[in-house]
Amino acid sequence: MKKANYGIDAPGVIYTLLLISILCAGIVTYAWFYAPATVPVWLVSFALWGGGICFVEGVLMVLYSKIGKFRHRDRMLKLYKIRGNEQVLDVGTGRGLLMIGAAKLMITGRATGIDIWSGKDLSNNKKALAMFNAQVEGVTDKVNIETADITKNELPDNSFDLVFSNLCLHNIKGKDQRKVACKEIYRLLTTGGTAIISDFKNTKEYAATFDELRMDVSRKGPYFFDTFPPLSIVIARKIC
Ligand SMILES: C[S@@+](CC[C@H](N)C(=O)[O-])C[C@H]1O[C@@H](n2cnc3c(N)ncnc32)[C@H](O)[C@@H]1O
Repeated sequence: MKKANYGIDAPGVIYTLLLISILCAGIVTYAWFYAPATVPVWLVSFALWGGGICFVEGVLMVLYSKIGKFRHRDRMLKLYKIRGNEQVLDVGTGRGLLMIGAAKLMITGRATGIDIWSGKDLSNNKKALAMFNAQVEGVTDKVNIETADITKNELPDNSFDLVFSNLCLHNIKGKDQRKVACKEIYRLLTTGGTAIISDFKNTKEYAATFDELRMDVSRKGPYFFDTFPPLSIVIARKIC
């Protein structure tokens, strides 16, 4: 049976962490078993702690990608009482995590996912694989998948009741460009619409931009138990 696969987030970071931990394990093993007198104590201690921390962080990131992100997706979806007739946008959908999650709750509504398909942000990041997941999950008729950069998209004004985004906006370089992204999310929302934006950093910055736009803003998290790095959520409602 075909199974949806939502990929591994930030694969390069995970490989680097695990590589450092292997190198550190090599230093400790060499110092311990072969030549204790030749390796300075500070280096062994540094390798032990540094390698241990990198290993734990790498494993926690894999666990987030394999288990935590589904719990976090459900948490985000529950923050809005979805009726099923909404137009939903998932910014930086990747393999379609929130787009497909929302599409499953749609009756007459539709979920759109946009992405630039950056391979460093998500493993095997391709539009075709987001489509494949939508097909496996049985929601092909309820989704649109488009290639678009949130900072310069051509989607029409006031076209979405609900905008989700998970772990996307921090990938945009520069505070000014991230501000542009938040302003675009505001532009795309209908009056009364809600943005639910999750990230591991810059969430205060997003909240401040939404606040400047006179949105009704609240924050939740960080969630230490099932996300790594711990994710926080900004909820912003467009009231005018
Ligand atoms: C870490 S992945 C998360 C994917 C998905 N939201 C999830 O939680 O599984 C971040 C995604 O944001 C996308 N992305 C980065 N910058 C973007 C931009 N300016 N506009 C649209 N998508 C972007 C990347 O291509 C990647 O698919």
